[in-house]
Amino acid sequence: MDLIPAPRSVVTGPGPGSGTGEVRLTAHSRLRAGPGTEGVGHWLRTALGQATGLPLHEGCEPGDDGIRLRLDPDLGPEEYRLVSDPDGVLIEGGSAAGVFWGAQTLRQLLGPDTYRRAPLGPDRARSVPHLTIEDAPRFRWRGLMLDVARHFMPKEGVLRYLDLMAAHKLNVFHFHLTDDQGWRIEIERHPRLTEIGSWRARTKTGHRASPLWEEKPHGGYYTRDDIREIVAYAAERHITVVPEIDVPGHSQAAIAAYPELGNTDVIAASIEGGNSLSVWDTWGINPNVLAPTDNTLRFYEGVFEEVLELFPSEFVHIGGDECPKEQWRSSETAQARIRELGLADEDELQSWFVGHFDAWLSARGRRLIGWDEILEGGLAKGAAVSSWRGYAGGIAAARAGHDVVMCPEQQVYLDHRQDPGPDEPVPIGWVRTLEDVYRFEPVPPELTPEEARHVLGTQANLWTEVMEDHARVDYQAFPRLAAFAEVAWSALPAPAERDFTGFEQRMTTHYRRLDALGVAYRPPTGPLPWQRRPGVLGRPIDGPPPHR
Ligand code: ACM
Repeated sequence: MDLIPAPRSVVTGPGPGSGTGEVRLTAHSRLRAGPGTEGVGHWLRTALGQATGLPLHEGCEPGDDGIRLRLDPDLGPEEYRLVSDPDGVLIEGGSAAGVFWGAQTLRQLLGPDTYRRAPLGPDRARSVPHLTIEDAPRFRWRGLMLDVARHFMPKEGVLRYLDLMAAHKLNVFHFHLTDDQGWRIEIERHPRLTEIGSWRARTKTGHRASPLWEEKPHGGYYTRDDIREIVAYAAERHITVVPEIDVPGHSQAAIAAYPELGNTDVIAASIEGGNSLSVWDTWGINPNVLAPTDNTLRFYEGVFEEVLELFPSEFVHIGGDECPKEQWRSSETAQARIRELGLADEDELQSWFVGHFDAWLSARGRRLIGWDEILEGGLAKGAAVSSWRGYAGGIAAARAGHDVVMCPEQQVYLDHRQDPGPDEPVPIGWVRTLEDVYRFEPVPPELTPEEARHVLGTQANLWTEVMEDHARVDYQAFPRLAAFAEVAWSALPAPAERDFTGFEQRMTTHYRRLDALGVAYRPPTGPLPWQRRPGVLGRPIDGPPPHR
């Protein structure tokens, strides 16, 4: 069956009193979605209908062996049970989400061609062997972060990634919407954010030390209706979208649109021939950060008001990473603010900035989440941390009683190269192979069981400086995202005891699913010729990752 992620238990074989050994779906098979599962029924009928051509009419006839969906209040919220027996296929879940994950399993059981959008022919097998699967996720936060700022991914590509996440039982889409290189979400009250901030005139090709440029404009943004569609499409797949609006660093695109957001007293002095910045066209950590003024706070409150209208998620990500302090050190306005607030230094100014939005979001019933730099200088109780600079930030946060999402760059930054060979396209970072990701453990052993309860889950991050289109994103994400999904969902043993050989064997089938889905993954034998980027400079880091 080669299920990925592996379920908690599978008992194969006929149940009591059964006959033939499999459920065959035919033109007469029906799909009956019980109360509370109608949305899953609609999704399943559409997905299986496209791939098989079967109508799967609503309802249940005597003697019919179709598919039934229903809630079982005795199961946990995302838990499900899938039974295939002479009565057909029954999927029960503790909530619609549980039933949905069961429906994803059913799709895998029906074979790789079930991932296609049209049937390959009338005679293809559409059967499920008799079995019972019981399953539930290890973590409630099984995330994927996609950076659409460095390279824009048009809406169709985002919807496709939501489908790919659902197929892997991932349920949090961290949507990195703003950065120095682009602002990707329409904000009605500040139209220049997208008029000016959503595109750049040219783009660095490869690592920032590369001499190459792509000399053409790059850009794009999501309208408010695009965002509504993305959020609704995700919700149909039981995926929560967590928006990220990065402050106070990673903000050059916003400053290009509204120069008064920047530290104008120092920027004016540093730019030749004028005092306005443009959207950044290269990579790295950017010195141009937000000015800590009331104007900036009011501006971003307005941005977040619109963000809250569009995104119902409990968590809102405010970035908070990589905010160089040089401009604040030399800006008279920033220094006056430090004195007025009685702060010790620029680090406390950053903490004050983050704290402002922490309180602002809490007052509106939401929770702030930010990169682990936000821990520096203290953090309000309800705030959570994305631990990216290794495990340390997450350990400190959990010990201080904060919830944590573990996404250490040394383990699950999927922009990092996946093989040491010379053919990897634009190789950056450490070598993180499929096996490395499979052996990634989100909960560090240093934490007590009580502290470990603060680990909400884990997330893989896709930064797109060196991924110019969706095929490049696919290449970096897959197959490693399949291993990551198993880490996030399945109750795997300790890293050294994990059966990677068994996982690789299951991957043989999973590659056929990815083929059917049209995913441009990295083949186990290495990149295909058109997946290489000869001559484009990367920045490989040699040696073992420092936090291992
Ligand atoms: C990050 O990678 N700067 C969060």
